[in-house]
Amino acid sequence: MPQMPRKAVFPVAGLGTRFLPATKAVPKEMLTVVDKPVIQYAVEEAAEAGIEHFIFVTGRGKGAIEDHFDIAYELEATLKARGKTAEIAQLEASRPAAGTASFVRQQEPLGLGHAVWCARDIVGNEPFVLALPDMLILSPRGCFAQMMDVYRAHGGNVIAVEEVPHEHVHRYGVVALEQKLDERTHRIAGMVEKPKREEAPSNLIISGRYILQPEIFARLETQKPGAGGEIQLTDAMIALVAEQAFHAYRFEGTTYDCGDKIGFLAANVALALSRPDIEPAFRPLLERLIGR
Ligand code: G1P
Repeated sequence: MPQMPRKAVFPVAGLGTRFLPATKAVPKEMLTVVDKPVIQYAVEEAAEAGIEHFIFVTGRGKGAIEDHFDIAYELEATLKARGKTAEIAQLEASRPAAGTASFVRQQEPLGLGHAVWCARDIVGNEPFVLALPDMLILSPRGCFAQMMDVYRAHGGNVIAVEEVPHEHVHRYGVVALEQKLDERTHRIAGMVEKPKREEAPSNLIISGRYILQPEIFARLETQKPGAGGEIQLTDAMIALVAEQAFHAYRFEGTTYDCGDKIGFLAANVALALSRPDIEPAFRPLLERLIGR
C-alpha cells in the first residue's frame, strides 16, 4: 500500500473580489453556507478521510480564519456558565486538535501554484491532499474519502474530475484521459489550464480536490507563469505526467462553486434541503417562493 496522506493544504489567500462588498472585511472563505463557513466544509471533508494536519495558506486580512479554528475562550466559558452543552459540543467538533492546524502566508498573489508551493516546508517529503475550498462538494461519502480508496488501489497522484457543459471548460483545468482502470478512474494523458473552448481536450474539469506527491514542490519552484499570468498548479502537474502516474477520478457527488454568486446561492439551497433539521421548514417556503 502507498504511504497515505496525513496533511491537507487549503489555499485561502484569494481576495474574493467577486463578492464585494461582502468580502471587504470578511474573508470569502468565511461566508456562510447555511450555518457554517465555506472553509469548514472542506476541512470536515478532509478530516473524514483521515487527514490529521490542516495547513492554511492565508494572506493579509484573513485573520478570521485562524480565529475560527482556534478556541474562543471567553465564548466557551460563557456558554459553559449558561449550561449550553450542545453549543459547546458543536464548537469542539468544528476545530482541529491542539497543534494540528498550521498557517502560512502567501505574501503575493502569484497564483494557485505559488500558494501550494508556500506550504512546502510544512508538508515536507510526503504525499498530501489539496482542497480548493470554493468548490463545495455535496455527497453521501466525502470526495476525499472516495479519493483515498483510489489512491490506496493505484497510488500516484489522484485528481477529482467532473463533466461540465462544453461551453464552461475555459474556466477550469481540463484533463485528457488514456487507459481506463475502472468505471470511475482513468490514467491521465495530459492537462491544460483554462483552454479555449475549441482547444479543450475533453469536458472533464479539475474539481478542486487533489492527492499529490511531494515532487510537485520542486516543479512549482521553477514554474513560469501560465494562464492569466499566474503560476499554475496544472502546469506543474503537466510537467510531472511523464514521470508519475496521474489518475482522474470521477467522484460521486455534486459540486457547488462558492466562488461564484450563483454557485454560492445554490450551495445554500442544496445544503439546506439536505439537512433533516432544516428541510421540513425550508422546503415549503422555497416552493412558495418559486411559485409552485
Ligand atoms: C483552479 C485550478 C483549475 C480548477 C479550478 C477549480 O482555478 O487552477 O484547474 O479547475 O481551480 O475551481 P481557479 O478557480 O483558481 O481559477
